[in-house]
Amino acid sequence: MKIGICSDHAGYDYKSRLVPYLQKKGYEVVDFGTDSTDSMDYPDVAHPLAEAVEKGAVDCGIAMCGTGNGMALTLNKHQGIRAGLAWGTEIGRLVKAHNNANVLVMPARFISYRMVQAITKTWLDTPFEGGRHQRRIDKVPCR
Ligand code: RB5
Repeated sequence: MKIGICSDHAGYDYKSRLVPYLQKKGYEVVDFGTDSTDSMDYPDVAHPLAEAVEKGAVDCGIAMCGTGNGMALTLNKHQGIRAGLAWGTEIGRLVKAHNNANVLVMPARFISYRMVQAITKTWLDTPFEGGRHQRRIDKVPCR
């Protein structure tokens, strides 16, 4: 399974620790940046990640910025993206089980790295429940 990952400067530290964690677990990781803690604009990495998920170049994505909101709102501009913000493991479970989020977004300035790992593991290990949730997801795209 191939995971795309991105962050802005606020999420860089957690991203640089999460990449080897995922690789150790056997995932292939494609890193879309950023590559340092220098201030940058989150859309510059969020759009390339979204396009990779939409094209199927990666199976899913993980994105982090300070609050998570900049990443989430940018990613969700893409029709093929369901980016869900999670700051705890139960939300991480539900954002897959109910929303089938294909990009997990986390708020790096508001949670610990330990929590980032725990949410990521939960989200990756949780299956989508389908059924009524699929019906709801089908109604999400703009008509
Ligand atoms: C960067 O200061 C901050 O604005 C960004 O990481 C994010 O929280 C935006 O939504």
